[in-house]
Parts: sequence; C-alpha cells; structure tokens
Amino acid sequence: MIVPSIFALTVLARTASAAVASTFTAPAPAPTSESPFYVGAANSTITNSPNVPGKVFDRFIQIWLENTDFAQAASQPVFQTLAAQGITLTGYYGVTHPSEPNYLAVVGGDFFGLATDVMEAVPTNMSTVVDLLEQKNISWSTYQENMPTDAYAGFNYTNPDNYTYYVRKHNPLVIYDSVTNISTRAARIRNFNDFAVDVGNNSLSQWIFVTPNLRNDGHDTNAAYAAAWLNFWLVPLLSDPNFNTAKTLIMITFDENETYTIGNNVYGLLLGGVVPQAMKNTTDPTFYTHYSTLSTVENNWDLGNLGRQDTNKTLANVFNLVASVTSYKNNNLTASSPSLPMLNITGTIPGPLNPNYYVPYLAPNTAGTGGGSGKTFVAPNVNTSLTSANAPAPINITAPMTTSSAAGLTSNAGSMIAAVTVAAVAAMLL
Ligand SMILES: *[C@@H]1O[C@H](CO)[C@@H](O)[C@H](O)[C@H]1NC(C)=O
Ligand SMILES: *[C@@H]1O[C@H](CO)[C@@H](O)[C@H](O)[C@H]1NC(C)=O
Ligand SMILES: *[C@@H]1O[C@H](CO)[C@@H](O)[C@H](O)[C@H]1NC(C)=O
Ligand SMILES: *[C@@H]1O[C@H](CO)[C@@H](O)[C@H](O)[C@H]1NC(C)=O
Ligand SMILES: *[C@@H]1O[C@H](CO)[C@@H](O)[C@H](O)[C@H]1NC(C)=O
Ligand SMILES: *[C@@H]1O[C@H](CO)[C@@H](O)[C@H](O)[C@H]1NC(C)=O
Ligand SMILES: *[C@@H]1O[C@H](CO)[C@@H](O)[C@H](O)[C@H]1NC(C)=O
Ligand SMILES: *[C@@H]1O[C@H](CO)[C@@H](O)[C@H](O)[C@H]1NC(C)=O
Ligand SMILES: *[C@@H]1O[C@H](CO)[C@@H](O)[C@H](O)[C@H]1NC(C)=O
Ligand SMILES: *[C@@H]1O[C@H](CO)[C@@H](O)[C@H](O)[C@H]1NC(C)=O
Ligand SMILES: *[C@@H]1O[C@H](CO)[C@@H](O)[C@H](O)[C@H]1NC(C)=O
Ligand SMILES: *[C@@H]1O[C@H](CO)[C@@H](O)[C@H](O)[C@H]1NC(C)=O
Repeated sequence: MIVPSIFALTVLARTASAAVASTFTAPAPAPTSESPFYVGAANSTITNSPNVPGKVFDRFIQIWLENTDFAQAASQPVFQTLAAQGITLTGYYGVTHPSEPNYLAVVGGDFFGLATDVMEAVPTNMSTVVDLLEQKNISWSTYQENMPTDAYAGFNYTNPDNYTYYVRKHNPLVIYDSVTNISTRAARIRNFNDFAVDVGNNSLSQWIFVTPNLRNDGHDTNAAYAAAWLNFWLVPLLSDPNFNTAKTLIMITFDENETYTIGNNVYGLLLGGVVPQAMKNTTDPTFYTHYSTLSTVENNWDLGNLGRQDTNKTLANVFNLVASVTSYKNNNLTASSPSLPMLNITGTIPGPLNPNYYVPYLAPNTAGTGGGSGKTFVAPNVNTSLTSANAPAPINITAPMTTSSAAGLTSNAGSMIAAVTVAAVAAMLL
C-alpha cells in the first residue's frame, strides 16, 4: 500500500524545512495586549450564549504546536514545569502526515484522504464540531496569530516585515465552507488582537482552538522556541480568571510527530483548573488520537457525533479525566500496546482530497455512536444515499483528462461519479 520512494522524499523535505532557530521575541507586552504585530484590528467582542455546563469542564482550550517529536517537547524546562501542573498523555497520536489533514481531522473527524498541505475548501455539506456545539448553544471560537482579518480566506499572510507568519493550513475551521460561508460563524474565526479584547472583556467562548504563528508554534523554529512562546503567552494566562476558570480544561499538543518513519506519537498535556490535585504531575498512557478531542468534547457535553472517525472505537478513546467521571467505556489500548494502528500513513488513504485514490465526499455513518448520546449530525444538504457501503472504488483522477479517460472514469465508478463534473475534477488538479 505504501510507496517507499515518496516517503523517503517527504522525510528529506521535512528535514530540510526544519529551519534554523532564532531567539523568541515577545510580539506584545502581554498575551492580553493588542499589538501592531498582529496586523488586523480587533473586531468588536463576540457575544456568547449563556454558559452550558459540561460534566467535567465548561471550557476547552486547545493549543496546537507543530512538528515535534515527543521527547523533544518533554525535554524543555517550560513543558516540565507545566507537566507538574497537569496530566501528560503519553499515548496521544497524530492521525497522518503532513499538517493540514491533522487540522481537518481534529474538527471534522476525518481528513478526507488529504496527503498534502495545499489550498483546500471542504464543501458545505461536511459538518464539523461547530454543528455539534451549536445544537446545544455552546459558544466557540478560534484564535489565529497573525491572521489579518477574521476568517481571512487567503492561503497565507505575510507581515510588513516580509515574513509569512500565518498559514491557512493550520486554521482548521476556515477550511470548512460549512463554517466560513456563514457570516456569524466566520466572525468566530478570530485573530490575536480579538483574543486580547475578548479575554479582557471576559468573553471567551466555551470551545476554543488556538494556533500560534509559524515561528511561535515551532514550525519554522524548534521546540525551545515554542516553549519560550508558551512561557510568554500561556503561563500568565493560567492565573488569569478570564481564561482559566475552575471548570477550564486546556490541552497543549502537536499536530504530528517530526519523523515520518516511526509512529505518530506526539506530546499531549492536559492543564487547567479542572485538573484535580491528585491528578497533577501524573501521566495517562491511554491510546488517544486527535479524534479523542472530538469524542471527549461530545462526552463532556453529551453531544451528537459527526459519524466519522469520532465514532471509531479504536481511535477515539475519551480522555480518562472525563471518562472516569462519566463512566464512558474506553478500549484497553495504551501507549505500550503491541500493534497500535498505523497513524503515520499518508498518500494512500482514499478520499475526496486524494486525487490518486479519489472517492466522493460521503454521508456520515448514522449507525455510529460518539462520545455523547446524541444522534449523528446530518447536514440538510447531504446526499444521504452516498454512504461508505455503496461508495465507488477509489479511482486515480490525476491522469491527464482525455475524452476517453473521462468516459472511462464514468463507467468505472458507476452512477455516483456522474455527480462529479469534469470541472470539479479539473479543480482537484489545481
Ligand atoms: C438555543 O438557543 C435558542 C435561542 O436562544 C433557543 O431557542 C434554543 O432552545 C436553545 N437550545 C438549547 C438546546 O438550549
Ligand atoms: C470584522 O467583521 C466584519 C464582518 O462582521 C468583517 O467584514 C471585517 O473584516 C472584520 N474585521 C476584522 C479586522 O477582522
Ligand atoms: C504563501 O503563498 C504563496 C502564494 O500562494 C506561496 O508562493 C508561498 O510559498 C506561501 N508561503 C508559505 C510560507 O506558505
Ligand atoms: C519588504 O519587501 C519589500 C519589497 O521587496 C521591500 O520594499 C521592503 O523594504 C521590505 N520590508 C522589510 C521590512 O524588509
Ligand atoms: C463558500 O465560499 C467559498 C469561498 O467564498 C465559495 O467558493 C463557495 O462557492 C461557497 N459555497 C457555497 C455553497 O456557497
Ligand atoms: C510508520 O511507523 C511504523 C512503526 O514505527 C514503521 O514500521 C513504518 O515503517 C512507518 N511507516 C511509514 C510510512 O513511515
Ligand atoms: C514519534 O512517535 C513514536 C511512537 O509512535 C515514538 O516512539 C517516538 O518517541 C516519537 N518521536 C521520536 C523522536 O522518537
Ligand atoms: C513530578 O513527578 C516527578 C516524578 O515523576 C518528580 O520527579 C517531580 O519532583 C514531581 N514534581 C512536582 C512539582 O511534584
Ligand atoms: C477505525 O480505525 C481503525 C484503525 O485505524 C481502522 O482500521 C478502521 O477501518 C476504522 N473503522 C472505520 C469504520 O473507519
Ligand atoms: C479491558 O480490560 C478489562 C479488564 O481490565 C476487561 O474486563 C475488558 O473486557 C477489556 N476490554 C477490552 C475491549 O478488551
Ligand atoms: C457533498 O458536496 C460535494 C460538493 O458539492 C459533492 O461532490 C458530494 O457528492 C456531496 N456529498 C454528500 C454526501 O452530500
Ligand atoms: C495516478 O496517475 C498518475 C498520473 O498518471 C500517476 O503518476 C500515479 O502514479 C497514479 N497513482 C496511482 C496510485 O496509481
């Protein structure tokens, strides 16, 4: 299934891109300060619906850093200090390589076969965690450092100093048109000046995703640089009651492991007021993946599910911090279980975003159960007959389109593929 030569090239490319470190410079006087470095002016504070209590936490803040192997993170003094206040997840995994598919997965429950970091827009019939949260009026927002305007659609953004700090591929919800194309939702994809205003006004949402810029998240730098950013940004916020309440859970993790040729184990740390004293400075070896952050949120607020990998009982264990309270039954896999699923595979997973193994966007699996007792969310514009049970076999649409190959495509894939116009196929090639 795996093409070794492609992987060898990818590994080399990534090694070369793991760029030189320079010294961390604070982008603002404090994490609660606005800064010209953040570019876009703050939009007025968002208004949130009343607090919806969860079984364990009322606020979940995810902070995603980049491309670092577990041991590199664990060796940083800042991480060690933070780990003493939290629960280190030793069995937490990314779900594929490179970055963008991992970001798609953590909010959408799938990465749709994507094996690159190219410009993508997932169509409006594909749901995300936002649909599940909004069914229960749970407020949400994301904060993207150096994104110039709320829900900026561009592929990246270069600051006046000519450095490209912001990239769309690390902004998970902006890639989903079901979020970006609705203006009230787009207003919740916010920049760091908005963050400063929102935290100052005590108007942070209940579900939050934070993406530091390409230097501060370690992508263009290294784990020590990301640790210095955490020391500047997160450490003071931990004692700010507008950020970290007694019912706040904070998660720091990395999108993927730096080294492709080994499993995709990444550092994960749970922090915040909700961590009981007895669980501080402990490790949890349960096998988790990015899908676990979806199932944990579903379990905590008793939500519906997306009918994708968030319902996969192998990959979506609920964090023990929550499962131990709700009596949710996880599988027994741990960091040291033999033959854990291979989560470093890339390029050969079929999906609508894999032109070598193309299958259409499928309807959610409504037979699945998620972390909560709610039903599978099915968007009104989903073609419910397009299920995994009757999906066409994957086809390679990268071959040059000729009249005969286009005809072959139609006959190979059966009637469903007729919905895929030649224009849509051509768009996939861009
Ligand atoms: C969500 O808020 C709307 C408008 O305030 C309200 O009509 C609805 O009942 C609420 N839903 C839930 C699940 O609380
Ligand atoms: C503020 O939000 C409006 C839409 O509500 C948008 O047009 C504008 O670009 C936003 N401004 C910034 C700085 O993000
Ligand atoms: C930013 O986008 C431009 C134009 O698409 C591209 O050439 C460049 O490589 C991108 N840079 C980064 C860091 O993503
Ligand atoms: C950024 O690039 C432009 C165009 O090359 C140049 O005129 C400008 O001086 C550069 N700015 C900085 C801060 O280097
Ligand atoms: C969603 O917005 C994108 C970008 O503006 C646009 O290309 C697309 O056609 C929109 N989709 C729908 C269904 O409105
Ligand atoms: C994924 O990791 C496994 C286990 O460490 C390794 O045997 C395998 O070769 C890796 N696969 C790739 C594609 O690098
Ligand atoms: C990457 O993940 C594997 C497990 O899948 C883990 O053994 C390894 O420690 C991680 N990083 C490095 C540098 O080895
Ligand atoms: C945390 O636990 C480690 C052993 O796992 C111990 O060496 C260290 O002193 C503990 N730190 C604190 C602050 O309790
Ligand atoms: C669940 O995940 C496992 C491990 O990756 C995989 O083998 C299995 O096919 C998945 N199940 C579904 C229904 O996608
Ligand atoms: C997990 O282990 C418990 C005993 O510790 C056992 O009762 C249970 O059947 C196991 N579950 C699975 C899915 O293997
Ligand atoms: C979702 O929308 C895309 C783009 O319009 C379409 O190709 C696909 O068939 C749709 N899938 C489902 C399950 O509705
Ligand atoms: C798909 O087609 C392209 C172009 O013909 C070819 O280079 C590639 O190897 C094919 N991929 C697979 C998985 O067959």
